[in-house]
Amino acid sequence: MKKKTIRDIDWQGKRALVRVDFNVPLDDQRQITDDTRIRAALPTIQYLLDHGASVVLLSHLGRPKNKVVDALRLDPVARRLSELLGRPVKKIDVTTGPEAEAAAQALQPGEVLLLENTRFDPREEANDESMARELARLGDIFVNDAFGAAHRAHASTEGVARFLPAVAGLLMEQELEYIGGAIEHPQRPFVTVIGGAKISDKIGVIDNLLGKVDALLIGGGMANTFLLAQGYRVGDSLVEPESVDTARALLRQAEERGVKLLLPVDVVIADAFDNNANKRVVAVDQVPDGWRILDIGPETIRRFSDEIKRAKTVIWNGPMGVFELPAFAEGTRAIAQALAEADAVTIVGGGDSVAAVEQMGLAERMTHISTGGGASLELLEGKELPGVAALQDA
Ligand code: 3PG
Repeated sequence: MKKKTIRDIDWQGKRALVRVDFNVPLDDQRQITDDTRIRAALPTIQYLLDHGASVVLLSHLGRPKNKVVDALRLDPVARRLSELLGRPVKKIDVTTGPEAEAAAQALQPGEVLLLENTRFDPREEANDESMARELARLGDIFVNDAFGAAHRAHASTEGVARFLPAVAGLLMEQELEYIGGAIEHPQRPFVTVIGGAKISDKIGVIDNLLGKVDALLIGGGMANTFLLAQGYRVGDSLVEPESVDTARALLRQAEERGVKLLLPVDVVIADAFDNNANKRVVAVDQVPDGWRILDIGPETIRRFSDEIKRAKTVIWNGPMGVFELPAFAEGTRAIAQALAEADAVTIVGGGDSVAAVEQMGLAERMTHISTGGGASLELLEGKELPGVAALQDA
């Protein structure tokens, strides 16, 4: 269902209450190490300011567990946002209440206010109605641009939308159009590449995509459990024995539906989980006891890349190996390269796959890089995101 967006509103003289996902990584000195999510919210903020609105911003940062944690205050975010916008951003140390209301009411068109971390308030994650009502007093219209948090039914993502007219921001719109669009009406062949450590995190995704894709390529630690399900010995590799039956069922389903499901045919193995460990490339039926699979091998890279190059739509989520150890990053890097070279709509989500694309300087060559981890997975699972469901239909 299409949702109303900020383009459907006359903003002149209005106060926009905007939920963004400024959950950015910080180092020990509380310096922002990656400001992608702040940059991604700029088009919405700029649009609102250009159209005569004042802007009240709401975000969580980290997981403070319902209490004030000084290290998770939003001050560094306000400073970076101000630099990026080229205008002052007022930051206050509360999220709701009289001080927040006074600050919001004092805003003139073109001015920006950032409230404190929404998760300092125990009512946020409980989606408590009293907090939602207090938030609603801070703006005339609610804008949800926090795609990364749209799978959470919290007071600032879902609850508040019940008490104000609620529309999508431009980032939210873009994420839904690309990811939702690829799943609902992909240009074919439609290929999905799924990786990451654990099959249990991705069962819902595979299950949903099996009914939609032409080919599913599986790498990363989760492929080991599929190999085990096929009867291979995987030595000391990471496996989820409790998911072997599920893996077997998914393999059967793929066969019944005529979906091409590709698993590694060769792998990079090592005698320890260490960048300097001894390593070798072997066929999947040749993994010795005491060794572990840490990446996909060159023949697998070739087969996966061929599928990607033939595709018209590719979604990639999750690394092909232990990407954080350079010795086992080749598979993930090769998949990033194949997507960059594909003449296709290419969509990348998930921390490590996005990091690989960015480290290799290939971000510009992807059609869309998602700012959402959990949210993009839930969308791929075919779930409705509560933060989206709460917005007005177009
Ligand atoms: C994310 O980083 O994926 C979002 O900001 C959501 O954060 P959460 O997993 O702590 O809800």
